[in-house]
Amino acid sequence: MAHKPNDWLRGLWYLAARATDVKAGRVISKQLLSEPILIGRTAAGKLFAIRDVCPHRGIPLSKGTFDGEAVTCCFHGWRFGPDGRCLEIPSLAPDRKVRLDRIRAPDYACLESQGLLWIFFPKHTAKTDTKDIPPAPFFNGFPEDAAPQIFGTVSYPCHADNAAYNLMDPAHAAFIHGSWWWRRKQSRLILKEKILEPAERGWRIARHKVARHNRAYRLLGRDVTSEITYHLPGLRIEEIRGDKHVVFGLSAVTPVSEHASEVTQCFYSDLPWLHWLSPVGRHFIKKFLSQDRAVAVLSDQPQIENFRPIHIPDADIQARYYAQLQAAWRRASDGKAAFHNPVRRQVVRWYS
Ligand code: FES
Ligand SMILES: [Fe+2]
Repeated sequence: MAHKPNDWLRGLWYLAARATDVKAGRVISKQLLSEPILIGRTAAGKLFAIRDVCPHRGIPLSKGTFDGEAVTCCFHGWRFGPDGRCLEIPSLAPDRKVRLDRIRAPDYACLESQGLLWIFFPKHTAKTDTKDIPPAPFFNGFPEDAAPQIFGTVSYPCHADNAAYNLMDPAHAAFIHGSWWWRRKQSRLILKEKILEPAERGWRIARHKVARHNRAYRLLGRDVTSEITYHLPGLRIEEIRGDKHVVFGLSAVTPVSEHASEVTQCFYSDLPWLHWLSPVGRHFIKKFLSQDRAVAVLSDQPQIENFRPIHIPDADIQARYYAQLQAAWRRASDGKAAFHNPVRRQVVRWYS
C-alpha cells in the first residue's frame, strides 16, 4: 500500500531505545521518523538528543567524538553542547566575531522512564514548550527506576503502519504464530466476544478472561484476566493479572524511514525471577516478531497502486479505527479541527 512520504504523526512520544543502550559519556546514532538523531548521555548522566547533522556542512555529528560534555564534529572541529548549541569554532580568528548562540543542531525533548528512552517529535519543526508536552507512557504500579525484565527489538524492512497492523489484528494469530508454548498453528478457531471502548488517543479492549490454552498465563495464578490498550502512535499495552501476579507487556512500533521500522516488545512484572528468563524471553520475542515481520513485509507493496484494504466486521474494526485515529490526529496537528476520537463503545465478536 502506498504511504505518503514523511507523513509521520507528530506531537507524540516515540520509543527510541532501551535506557542501557546509552551509557554515560557515550552517544548512539539512530534514524527515527526519517530524521537522523544523536542520542547521548553526558558523563554526569544527563540524557540528550540532537539532530545528527552538523549545521556547518551537514556532516553527521556521530562521525565525530564525544568527550562526555560536548560533541566535536570530525570535519572542522566545531563543538556542540548537549542542547545542540555551538560552543566553539576552532578556525575563528579572535577579531572575527560569529554569534555562536545562533548556531545550533536542533534538540529534541527526551526522557528516560522505567528503563526506556522516549523522544518527543513536535508538531512543527520548532521545539515544543515542555509544558505542552503530554506525559510519556508509564506503567502504574512500577517505580520510575523499574526496568523491563524481558526486552527485545526487531527491525522490520517495511513502513511502520504495516508493522503496527499486526498488533491490532486478532485474525492472523492462528495462521502465523504457531508454537508449542503459544498455540498450535491453525488450531480450532474459537469465537471471542469482547468490549471495545475509547481510550486516550486510541481504544481499549476491556478486561476479559484470557484463553486457557496458553500455558504461560498459569504463572500468574488463577482467574487470569487481560486488558489491552492501543494508543497512537503505535503502542499496545497489555496488563495481565492473576490472583497472584501481574505482567505488563508493551509493544511499540517506531518508524525509522518510509521503508523501515522497529518493533519492540518488553515485559514488566512482579514475578521476581522473571529476569532470569530474559535470554529465553528475548529468543521467543524475536521468533514471534519475525513471524509478524514476514507478513508485514509482504503486505507493504507500494508499487500496487490504488489498493484499498477491506475491513470486515469485527476482526478488522481495530485496523479501521487506527486509520481513522491517524487521520483525526493529522487534522488536529494541521490545526484544521480539534482531535476527535472516533472509537465508540461496543461489543465485538470474532473467531481467532
Ligand atoms: S562540517 Fe562540522 S565543523 Fe564543519
Ligand atoms: Fe502477530
